Amino acid sequence: MKKVWVLVLVILWSCFSPNGLSDVSSTRPSSVNIGAILSFNSTIGRVAKVAIEAAVDDINSNQTILNGTHLNISVQDTKVSTGFLGIIESLLLMEKDTVAIIGPQYSVMAHVISHIANELQVPLLSFAATDPTLSSLQFPFFLRTTQSDQFQMAAVSEIVNYYQWRDVIAIFIDDDHGRNGIATLGDKLAEKRCKISYKAPLSPNNINGEEINSALVKVALMESRVIVLHIYPNIGLDVLHVAQTLGMMGNGYVWIATDWLSTILDTDPVGSSSHMNDIQGVITLRMYTPDSEKKRNFLSRWSNLTKVEKEGPLGLNTYGLYAYDTVWILAYALDEFFSSGGTLSFSNESSLNMLKGDRLNLNNVGVFNNGSLLLEKALKVNKTGLTGQMMFSSDVELVNPAYEVINVIGTGIRRIGYWSNSLGLHTGEKEEEEAPKPNHSKSSSEGLYGVIWPGQTTLTPRGWVFASNGRHLRIGVPLRISYHEFVSKIEGSEMFGGYCVEVFTAALDLLPYPVPYKFIPFGDGKTNPLNSELLHMITTGAFDAVVGDITITTNRTKIVDFTQPYIESGLVVVAPIRKLNSNAWAFLRPFTPMMWFVTGMFFFVVGAVVWILERRVNDDFRGPARRQFVTIIWFSFSTLFFAHMEQLSSPVKGIESLVTSNELIGILRGSFAENYLTEELNIMKSRLVPLNSPAEYEKALRDGPTNGGVAAVIDERAYMELFLATRCEFGVVGQEFTKMGWGFAFQRDSPLAIDVSTAILKLSENGDLQRIHDKWLTRSACSSEGAKQGIDRLELKSFWGLFLLCGIACLVALLCYVVRLAFRFSRHSGPNLEGPTSRSSRLRSFISFVNEKEEQEDKNKPRERGSCRKVVHEDDSQC
Ligand SMILES: *[C@@H]1O[C@H](CO)[C@@H](O)[C@H](O)[C@H]1NC(C)=O
Ligand SMILES: *[C@@H]1O[C@H](CO)[C@@H](O)[C@H](O)[C@H]1NC(C)=O
Ligand SMILES: *[C@@H]1O[C@H](CO)[C@@H](O)[C@H](O)[C@H]1NC(C)=O
Ligand SMILES: *[C@@H]1O[C@H](CO)[C@@H](O)[C@H](O)[C@H]1NC(C)=O
Ligand SMILES: *[C@@H]1O[C@H](CO)[C@@H](O)[C@H](O)[C@H]1NC(C)=O
Ligand SMILES: *[C@@H]1O[C@H](CO)[C@@H](O)[C@H](O)[C@H]1NC(C)=O
Ligand SMILES: *[C@@H]1O[C@H](CO)[C@@H](O)[C@H](O)[C@H]1NC(C)=O
Ligand SMILES: *[C@@H]1O[C@H](CO)[C@@H](O)[C@H](O)[C@H]1NC(C)=O
Ligand SMILES: *[C@@H]1O[C@H](CO)[C@@H](O)[C@H](O)[C@H]1NC(C)=O
Ligand SMILES: *[C@@H]1O[C@H](CO)[C@@H](O)[C@H](O)[C@H]1NC(C)=O
Repeated sequence: MKKVWVLVLVILWSCFSPNGLSDVSSTRPSSVNIGAILSFNSTIGRVAKVAIEAAVDDINSNQTILNGTHLNISVQDTKVSTGFLGIIESLLLMEKDTVAIIGPQYSVMAHVISHIANELQVPLLSFAATDPTLSSLQFPFFLRTTQSDQFQMAAVSEIVNYYQWRDVIAIFIDDDHGRNGIATLGDKLAEKRCKISYKAPLSPNNINGEEINSALVKVALMESRVIVLHIYPNIGLDVLHVAQTLGMMGNGYVWIATDWLSTILDTDPVGSSSHMNDIQGVITLRMYTPDSEKKRNFLSRWSNLTKVEKEGPLGLNTYGLYAYDTVWILAYALDEFFSSGGTLSFSNESSLNMLKGDRLNLNNVGVFNNGSLLLEKALKVNKTGLTGQMMFSSDVELVNPAYEVINVIGTGIRRIGYWSNSLGLHTGEKEEEEAPKPNHSKSSSEGLYGVIWPGQTTLTPRGWVFASNGRHLRIGVPLRISYHEFVSKIEGSEMFGGYCVEVFTAALDLLPYPVPYKFIPFGDGKTNPLNSELLHMITTGAFDAVVGDITITTNRTKIVDFTQPYIESGLVVVAPIRKLNSNAWAFLRPFTPMMWFVTGMFFFVVGAVVWILERRVNDDFRGPARRQFVTIIWFSFSTLFFAHMEQLSSPVKGIESLVTSNELIGILRGSFAENYLTEELNIMKSRLVPLNSPAEYEKALRDGPTNGGVAAVIDERAYMELFLATRCEFGVVGQEFTKMGWGFAFQRDSPLAIDVSTAILKLSENGDLQRIHDKWLTRSACSSEGAKQGIDRLELKSFWGLFLLCGIACLVALLCYVVRLAFRFSRHSGPNLEGPTSRSSRLRSFISFVNEKEEQEDKNKPRERGSCRKVVHEDDSQC
């Protein structure tokens, strides 16, 4: 490519140039030739021409700069903007021992001419070629004296991110300038997790209304409503006009025009006023130049400078300011160049000599020997110009890039804020020069002022519409073979039912826009499909979303976007509930086998001590002491018995005891629980038994670990609640040990995921979520609800077994007492019994006997220790 252009150049040289080689060398020449490459018939070129000529005049008349050296500028009109001829014309400049070229104006041309500039070592100082890739090391002699689109695109992406849009559409001219600018925009958007969802390139040559029309029609069919228009000033307004006729400047659309629009509005305020109707609500950018005395003076001179213009008044745009400053940068650089001994010598020693021949007049090709010195001086310039500080950073860009953000409203424009590289978007005027700003000023002025969007609304557009191109949302649904309550295909139809599906459709109904969708079953109908495979279908693009019993896990959020969880479902342990756990014995549950054992041993020791002490005190081990001993031993053995019972029943108390044991654990085949248990809880994989269905769960639990089954099953609570609803002999043991939820999965960055999340929250707040839950999932056939819920919670009614025992014991004791009294009474009153007495008199005499007996016992208490103790003890032991 390079060689081809060099060849072109060489041929042209030999044809056109009459002059011979000049090997002039002197320290301070009286004149120095510079060139400028512009398109006079372009928005930027017209202004730049005036500005450049004004700058040259100013420098030549200024004694403090290049004193005694005349700047001899030759301004070349490329006429056609970016075509081949334009490039050739610009090459003609090179024959005049030009030491530097101001321009070219177009990035496309800059790409080509840079190759020749490298060869001839002539610096190119471009005030308008904004293509970011021109800063690359490939073009060492290209120096951009304006702001790179790299910063403009960063500003655009921050605006997009500020309004929380995710996808944009890019319309651009399909040449180096457009493509590279949009590629940079894509990079900058990616940093904000946004993206360009569709690119609409326009042909660089002779574009007509028809082509614009067909491109815009395609754009209108897209989902995104945020359109970035990166284009040339001469056709930009045409595009917006076609958009207006297509109804694309109405409500819901967002148009972000790069600085071409502000350039037109600045340059031709009169001409563009007829287009105002087409550009209402558009946001555009303008390179920011700080206010200064210098700038104000130049602005007041401007009307004088442009008096000669025939086609009406010519406004000054920021490119004009940069063009003016560019000449000054070159003048400062030349001044330094001469001061440090640089010379204007040209040599014919270059690789171009390879092409030397009789037919080619190569004598005119001169390599600027000290070109790199001039370039070096230009890079070191640090002065203040109309555009502010003129200085290059280490990555060869002007320092302090900043833009104004402008909203087109009514007959004019309104500045809604600024973007700068250091502060991002803010509403305050950027401080003079850089001056690192204190932190408070940033936070107080962050963001942008209100915008009036297309359609005359102040409401920020959502930025996208749903699939107006008639496509249905493809939703993958697992074809489950068990737990049809969650998701199931309705027999004989394409529709799906179940809890998850109903929540989803209820959420979609709440969206402010219609979403056409269709469910696509996933799975062979014989086994439950693996959810990880189902989610993978989203990443391959087969599905747009997945609805079903999908647990939100970290791993999964890495590949898809989940909505808010619509149901909580952590992992729980399910095991057979032991007989002891029937409600009557619920009060014993908090006691572990160890506690039983310790209690038993305690009683045993106390019994032994009592026995020994009693033996010491009275030799005859009889009466009360013996009874106490027997009682205590009875307690000991009964508690030890309970301890043994506990041991016999399921050892599973919850996840902790399960982890430390060596029992087999059943899990759902393909469930994420497998990873969780092995990686987080370090359970050996060999202990996990994959099971397929509730029926297999039941069988495995029934068989138990000793008969080829499992000790417990670990699965999600949502499933287990359904499982336990009809199987009362099993129950959840211990606490839920993970907190998880189920969500609907969408493609990465799908705007629907956010809106559906909002809808789920609404469903939850208005109670619909609970209603749907109750409709599908609450169905418990087990009367002993305690067996499933709150297994470890003790309530008053859990103690009824204890109360019953006590009651019976007391009753029995009372009965014994009464019987004994009755027996004594009959013995006592036996002899006095004469003749048939009335029943009431017998009762009366019995009661008086009881009273008598009690009084007598009270009196005898201190003396009759033995009998007293006996009574007390009898009560103790039986109640
Ligand atoms: C450029 O010149 C042509 C005629 O030479 C004219 O028709 C066209 O409008 C001009 N373009 C601009 C942008 O001034
Ligand atoms: C002449 O150039 C110097 C910089 O070298 C500048 O400060 C001064 O303002 C210029 N004078 C005029 C009249 O433009
Ligand atoms: C510029 O040069 C002229 C003559 O060469 C001299 O008289 C004048 O003092 C110089 N001006 C400055 C500012 O050096
Ligand atoms: C200025 O440049 C033109 C060619 O562009 C040349 O003909 C002319 O001689 C130059 N003037 C001086 C003083 O060097
Ligand atoms: C504009 O030009 C006129 C004469 O041509 C002159 O009197 C006037 O001062 C100039 N204005 C400015 C701002 O330079
Ligand atoms: C450069 O040009 C001069 C004059 O035409 C010629 O004398 C000289 O030999 C050339 N040098 C080379 C290296 O070609
Ligand atoms: C400038 O050019 C001269 C002769 O062409 C050369 O000797 C000198 O080294 C050059 N200086 C630099 C800094 O390139
Ligand atoms: C550039 O010039 C300004 C003053 O005009 C000075 O404060 C600053 O330090 C200079 N920067 C460099 C890198 O020389
Ligand atoms: C900047 O923030 C720090 C910490 O918040 C604070 O200490 C400091 O005073 C702030 N500076 C200014 C100028 O407000
Ligand atoms: C996450 O995925 C990776 C690979 O896809 C797998 O190796 C890892 O075990 C998974 N982790 C969990 C916790 O599922």
